Amino acid sequence: MQSKRARLDRFVSGVVGINRRDVRPMLAQKRVLVDGCVATDINQVIGEFSHVMLDHRVLQANTPSYVMLNKPAGVVSATKDVRHKTVIDLLDRSDRENLHIVGRLDFNSSGLLLLTNDGQWSRHLTTPEKNIAKLYRVTLEKPITEDYVHAFAEGMYFSYENITTLPAKLNILSDFVAEVSLVEGRYHQIKRMFGRFQNPVLTLHRIAIGNLPLDPSLAPGKSRALTECEANNIGQELL
Ligand code: URA
Repeated sequence: MQSKRARLDRFVSGVVGINRRDVRPMLAQKRVLVDGCVATDINQVIGEFSHVMLDHRVLQANTPSYVMLNKPAGVVSATKDVRHKTVIDLLDRSDRENLHIVGRLDFNSSGLLLLTNDGQWSRHLTTPEKNIAKLYRVTLEKPITEDYVHAFAEGMYFSYENITTLPAKLNILSDFVAEVSLVEGRYHQIKRMFGRFQNPVLTLHRIAIGNLPLDPSLAPGKSRALTECEANNIGQELL
């Protein structure tokens, strides 16, 4: 997702269809408001969600949306699919076509899926360097042993992508159930990590991203908007 930031003169000239040179006098005449304040600097950076007015005309008034969905298994984490229902189809919101997915879940995986129209927010949550943990509960076909804990923490080499996974935390809850905490999201990562032990994953459910747990009152397939507090505080480290 590309950044949607622009310098004020470039932004106004682009929207109104005038020369960039003509924006400076508009500022001098106090005709441009950014987030309710008179703009004075053509270099001011306009973000995706800055409210911009020229005289009494609104040039931009986008509002950010942050949504959590309890994704059921059997639904595709994509905006369009010709064969299967998508997570967008499950949303009951007028702006659903403008949202993108923040970190996919596989077709058969379930649990917490975030959607937003805020590219900066989703980049922050999905960049491994930000160290934001995604927590999964996993059920396996065969018993899990302590060997796995070390292997997950050490990182695993995947020759196909020529990468070694970042340290992951494995917490064994019982013979067949474990919690896994990852800060990255490689293709089928958890299934492939358990695959190293020839232990197939039966169910995989995401229970938290950063500080944000899946709302237990959301039935599978249901969604709700995040509160401002949830959206602002999600990006804390769990590991
Ligand atoms: N790892 C997987 O293998 N699948 C998911 O859906 C998420 C993490």
